[in-house]
Amino acid sequence: MRTVTRWLTALLATFGAAVAAYGLTTGPPAGYAGDPGEADCLACHGDFAMNLGGELRILGAPPLYREGATYRITVRVVSSQTAALPAPKWGFQLTAVSAVTGDGAGVFALVGGENSQITAGTTSHPTRRYVEHLAAGTRTGVRDSAEWSVDWTAPDADLGGVEFFAAGIAADGDGSGNGDFVYAASVAVADTVTPVLVSTWGSLKQRYRR
Ligand code: HEC
Repeated sequence: MRTVTRWLTALLATFGAAVAAYGLTTGPPAGYAGDPGEADCLACHGDFAMNLGGELRILGAPPLYREGATYRITVRVVSSQTAALPAPKWGFQLTAVSAVTGDGAGVFALVGGENSQITAGTTSHPTRRYVEHLAAGTRTGVRDSAEWSVDWTAPDADLGGVEFFAAGIAADGDGSGNGDFVYAASVAVADTVTPVLVSTWGSLKQRYRR
């Protein structure tokens, strides 16, 4: 009986580990977009310094968002680091956070054909949502840069500013966390209710007096 229990425990441990590894292949765990209170991909892909030989860009975020409007947000990872490798892979994770509450802000909707997914936040930030690549979305063999798009519908403008955070990697494609280059960036967008530039009539008149 004891041997059987031991055998079962070993089997479960092996199976559990396999499930965990598979989970990584299907996309990173939640909470690694470089957002406040969370980490970024360097936690497990830590061979090189952040933003070495490339950059991450968050495109399509409006300077001012309109309540309920939908914007197509694109995360582009640019890197020359893996250019000489036979089959580089790419990955990303993106989230939108309220600058006021730290909660997830707005609603993400997947764009067809991007091979991405949306995962729920961690226990420390359960309202955040993370858009990220699926295994099929790692753009294997692509050179120089890779990108993914997702639609984001803005929240009530009264909620205040929103900040997008994204982290991405240009990986060597060896199926491990080694030899991969990590990039991260953030972009702040303002609502249409809170004044962006604090300027009063008095200060404006002052500026144009001369
Ligand atoms: C908790 C640890 C962990 C975190 C955090 C993590 N990864 Fe990974 N990642 C792994 C492991 C382990 C592998 C290799 C095994 C696998 O693919 O499941 C991997 C593999 C990958 C690969 C394939 C690499 C290759 O060379 O073949 C990509 C792409 C990737 N991760 C992207 C990301 C991105 C993007 C982030 C950050 C948003 C991230 N990972 C965060 C553990 C992690």
